[in-house]
Amino acid sequence: MCGIVGYIGKKEKKKLILEGLGELEYRGYDSAGIAVMKDGKIDAFKATGKLSNLKEKTKNFTSNGEGIAIGHTRWATHGKPTEINAHPHFGKHSYIVHNGIIENYREIKEMLTKKGVVFLSQTDTEVVVYLFEHNLENSKNAFEAFEKTVISLKGAYAILLITTIEPNSIFFAKNAAPLIIGKNSDEVFFGSSDAPLIGHVKEVCYLEDGQYGILDKNEIKLYLNAKKVLPIFKDLPQDRSFAQKEGFRFFMEKEIYEQSSVLGETLMGRIKDNEISLEEIDEHLLDGINAVKICACGTSYHAGLTAGYLFERFAKIRTDVVIASEFRYKDPLLTKDTLFIVISQSGETADTLEALKIAKNAGLKTLAICNVDNSSIVRLADTTILTRAGIEKGVASTKAFATQVATLWLLSIFIAQKRKTADKKSLKLEIDTLLKIPTSLHVDNAVHEKIKRLSKRYLHGHGFFFIGRDIFYPLALEGALKLKEISYLHAEGYPAGEMKHGPIALVDSKLFTVALLPKTMLYDKTKSNIEELSARDATILVISPEQFELADDFIKTKNSSHAMNEFFEMMIILQLLALEIAVRLGNDVDMPRNLAKSVTVE
Ligand code: M6R
Repeated sequence: MCGIVGYIGKKEKKKLILEGLGELEYRGYDSAGIAVMKDGKIDAFKATGKLSNLKEKTKNFTSNGEGIAIGHTRWATHGKPTEINAHPHFGKHSYIVHNGIIENYREIKEMLTKKGVVFLSQTDTEVVVYLFEHNLENSKNAFEAFEKTVISLKGAYAILLITTIEPNSIFFAKNAAPLIIGKNSDEVFFGSSDAPLIGHVKEVCYLEDGQYGILDKNEIKLYLNAKKVLPIFKDLPQDRSFAQKEGFRFFMEKEIYEQSSVLGETLMGRIKDNEISLEEIDEHLLDGINAVKICACGTSYHAGLTAGYLFERFAKIRTDVVIASEFRYKDPLLTKDTLFIVISQSGETADTLEALKIAKNAGLKTLAICNVDNSSIVRLADTTILTRAGIEKGVASTKAFATQVATLWLLSIFIAQKRKTADKKSLKLEIDTLLKIPTSLHVDNAVHEKIKRLSKRYLHGHGFFFIGRDIFYPLALEGALKLKEISYLHAEGYPAGEMKHGPIALVDSKLFTVALLPKTMLYDKTKSNIEELSARDATILVISPEQFELADDFIKTKNSSHAMNEFFEMMIILQLLALEIAVRLGNDVDMPRNLAKSVTVE
């Protein structure tokens, strides 16, 4: 998804901005650009493809000394990923970078076209810079023109605008897309996330929706609804260790291996005296609650589906799980006895954020399960449980999923405790198993080596089925999503019992089936479903603690008495399988095509 970096100060601006954009690279983008203003003159460069192309274009450009710079990585929404559509967009005197979507851009474009403006790009962003310059004609000053512009915009935006009319300042605005200001005594930074600011500033101000303003080296003028407000600065954690791959080939691989230790973080301090203790939850949160609705997208949705089984089975609470983009427009019936839970790694996913707003407006109690503190979702939800996965750089989510499932499992036990729906013995069993989960998430080198070897047999064929039952069904969905995201092979997840209702028609020897066959859950039923596929000559990879004679390939898991142990062990196998197939296909595992780490547009 798009990324923004901005700077005012004396340092080499080109270098700073390119480094900052590099920190945002993992979010996914297809073009990039930079504009530097010095002594009232603006130089701008854009390039499609990777940042290295922009670096090459700017290699002879230097930008030392007092000045201003803005930079952007674009993930195409309106118009193709061409150089013309890349940001910054410009008018006569001004340049702009923007994340988000301007919903009323067509009306604005029509109005400006009638006044003689000729647009170069197909983007929604270009209208903003021209609208600003149009407003300049009948405003007292540039700030008034900017304010009028921001007021006319509908949609989601994080905007930085520079203009030769006001050569020492950056204009900024934020609504439903993240924007952060960092400040030192003689320089100012902007970022669309923390990452580009770490190491440069110690304190940051996370702008709120609707805020806009103007800032120079000495002063931040911040407004909300035309009233001046005080910027609130917070400490910025300075941990940069996430940036290194620590000997692994890819961030995704490192993150798979990290799952054991981050799960330890997820649980830390949350199990006391054989009870789940979630200090972030108000003791009255569950008062009057008879149902749960979970909303999320992608991998987070799969974690939500898993929670659906855990909540109903263990906490005995009616649970409904909905994809956020579907929830938004279905005119959902919401009742105040429902606890509304959103799950998001980034905390910035537009659909999930909007679903949360709908629930809040309907007066529901809201709870976020999120990995990024201070993200938009965290700031909006009544209560948050942080998953503590650390920064996840691989676009294909791995450790975020593991920590989401563990957090939701914790929560299911917590709800069971509060609602007294489980006896002491079963509560103790859950907690004891939970405590051992970090150990069972160690990657077994022998298994990884086996998957590396196996992967060469799964590169061709016309598709993959991932099948499982109960909580292994959402895990099958997640396995299929991982594979398609990074290998670009067609893969679908199905409940194993659903095959005969249609999908089995696709089965032949070139259809690969990855079957999750846990011993602790519906073993015989799932086995019969696999046999049905084997009878139709499917090529089958079985993952199970029990040898399965009809399997073409087999990965043995440990014997365990608890389904969640089997769940997490199989999760790692699916992640490694996707990784190794993608590696063999020569794909960019950390930055797969067409994908963005944080989906801040609808
Ligand atoms: O940041 P979120 O968890 O809200 O993101 C939701 C999805 O966009 C995300 O899980 C996506 O499916 C990942 N690429 C999965 O690997």
